Amino acid sequence: MTPDRIPHHVAIVMDGNGRWATRRYLPRIAGHKKGMDALSACVRHCHDRGVKVLTVFAFSSENWKRPREEVSSLMELLAVALAREVPRLNAEGVRLFFVGDRSALSAKVRAGLTKAESATASNSRLLFNVCFNYGGRWDIAQAAARVTAGKEAITEESLSAAMALAHVPDPDLVIRTGGERRLSNFLLWQAAYAELYFTEKLWPEFDGAALDDALADYARRERRFGKTSEQVSTALAKKVA
Ligand code: FPP
Repeated sequence: MTPDRIPHHVAIVMDGNGRWATRRYLPRIAGHKKGMDALSACVRHCHDRGVKVLTVFAFSSENWKRPREEVSSLMELLAVALAREVPRLNAEGVRLFFVGDRSALSAKVRAGLTKAESATASNSRLLFNVCFNYGGRWDIAQAAARVTAGKEAITEESLSAAMALAHVPDPDLVIRTGGERRLSNFLLWQAAYAELYFTEKLWPEFDGAALDDALADYARRERRFGKTSEQVSTALAKKVA
């Protein structure tokens, strides 16, 4: 695959942990733990393939509605992930960002997120955004509130600059595992021109080969950004010449 056919920014809705566990007569949290392992491997595959930004949906604004034990297990998993993964991510040159509303998180979790971000701040091989207590509507609303508070006019540019993912370009490819075909409040603003890829595979089963399938599918897409196919081909021919 030529480098310009590799998406710069890949975003993933990691769905299907619960079903993976239930099918094995395991508690749902076992699926999330397996999902954590799949995520570690996915980070590595992404930088091996030349992806520069990876954004994942780890906990949505709506996930608070889950049973209390599952919510606390996910919080614990985050703490475990920080302790286990940050040294590894650092060694691999990955820079970590947490994206979402931190005000609802405990002081301990918030401190852990800030510490992990500072520890990896000088890395640049892959920018890794973990969306936690995140929702696309929350992001648009908080951006609008910030722009208004700064007495700026609301424009596409001012809102984009105030979004929680303003430090990275918009995603090129959004992958959703687990068979559902919806965005579920993920990157509503930023995914305007993203290519969408849906797979039946449950997140814990999403391995390097599955990522390669998604990348190969992306490489076959024609991205027009509102232009005609002819305009795109002419521009591409000029670029190659
Ligand atoms: C959706 O599957 C998955 C989640 C809500 C959590 C995703 C978390 C991980 C992959 C682990 C990494 C976690 C952290 C904290 C970094 P689901 O539970 O909705 O699955 P289902 O649709 O089969 O029930």
